[in-house]
Amino acid sequence: SNSEEQKILEAYQLLSKLYHHLLKHTKDGKKGLEYLYDRGFNEETIDKFQLGFSPYKKDFIMQFLEQKGYHRQLMIKSGFFTTNHQDRFQGRIVFPIRNITGKTIGFVGRSIDDQEPKYLNSAESPLFQKSKILYNFDQARSEIRKKSEVILTEGSADVMALAQAGFENTVASLGTSFTDTHASILRRYVDTVILCFDGDNAGQQATFKTLKILKKVGCFVKIAMLPTNYDPDQYIKEYGADSFDKHIIQTASTEMSFLMKYYKNDFDLRQEGELLRYVDKIISEIALLASPIDRDFYIRELAEQFSLSHDALTEELSRKMQFVK
Ligand code: UTP
Ligand code: MN
Ligand code: MN
Ligand code: MN
Ligand code: MN
Repeated sequence: SNSEEQKILEAYQLLSKLYHHLLKHTKDGKKGLEYLYDRGFNEETIDKFQLGFSPYKKDFIMQFLEQKGYHRQLMIKSGFFTTNHQDRFQGRIVFPIRNITGKTIGFVGRSIDDQEPKYLNSAESPLFQKSKILYNFDQARSEIRKKSEVILTEGSADVMALAQAGFENTVASLGTSFTDTHASILRRYVDTVILCFDGDNAGQQATFKTLKILKKVGCFVKIAMLPTNYDPDQYIKEYGADSFDKHIIQTASTEMSFLMKYYKNDFDLRQEGELLRYVDKIISEIALLASPIDRDFYIRELAEQFSLSHDALTEELSRKMQFVK
């Protein structure tokens, strides 16, 4: 019911404060705090993101909330616990996930020892739906609106590293599944989305899928590609914020040049037949571009890259465009 949801929301705010206090001011939390400093996060960032620590105790939260007068049965509905009613995030760093009004509605817990899995989320509930929440959107909103541009990353650590480096218009989809709902939220605030996912294969595939979703809502997309074994957090840690700005953000690719690279993974271009299928695929993508200047630009690029006749490519483009729209 509505008042139950209100109660759970209240409990989330209390827990978020408690976890943060435990991280910063207790012996238990010290290990978590040191872990975060080791990763390069400073105190200001840790406070800004209200990071916390969940102690190594099975029933810490249940006891805390019962003391505060919360009913056991209600708390069990909340997603704070595992299926056998134990603390979900024992021994983990916790990142509060806030909704657009800044209220905590869930947590991401990251293990700092060998506990598997590395990341664990609050259970899905009417209050917490990962498919509708963008991490840090509440804090990034005004910068996003001001710049009319948002940087979209995979993870909470990436958002923190970017914010600490001065890129405050950054959010994350918490993993790689970006949804139509995420896209329409962003579309209300921006024209341009800069995709900055991990440089690994999973990141590239997520970039492709996310690009397609963002195009459906009419966003302009730039692709900030990272070297294979980096994510934004690692890149900034190793090369610094200036290099990230200069070599990753400022040199972000256009959609088409990303797609031209991306589709190369699907074909063996040394074989004539495969190469022709690749070219056909790229012409189909070019046919989707709204601007005739853009279409001409990429047709030329394609012609040059494979020494093909510009006229033939243009003819095929016109044929394909009859089927678009
Ligand atoms: P990654 O797998 O890229 O995290 O997942 P990572 O960069 O290795 O993590 P760190 O830097 O070592 O801490 C990207 C994001 O996906 C979410 C987390 O928010 C994570 O930051 N995620 C990942 C989940 O929510 N659940 C998972 O099981 C895995
Ligand atoms: Mn604080
Ligand atoms: Mn990843
Ligand atoms: Mn990382
Ligand atoms: Mn990563």
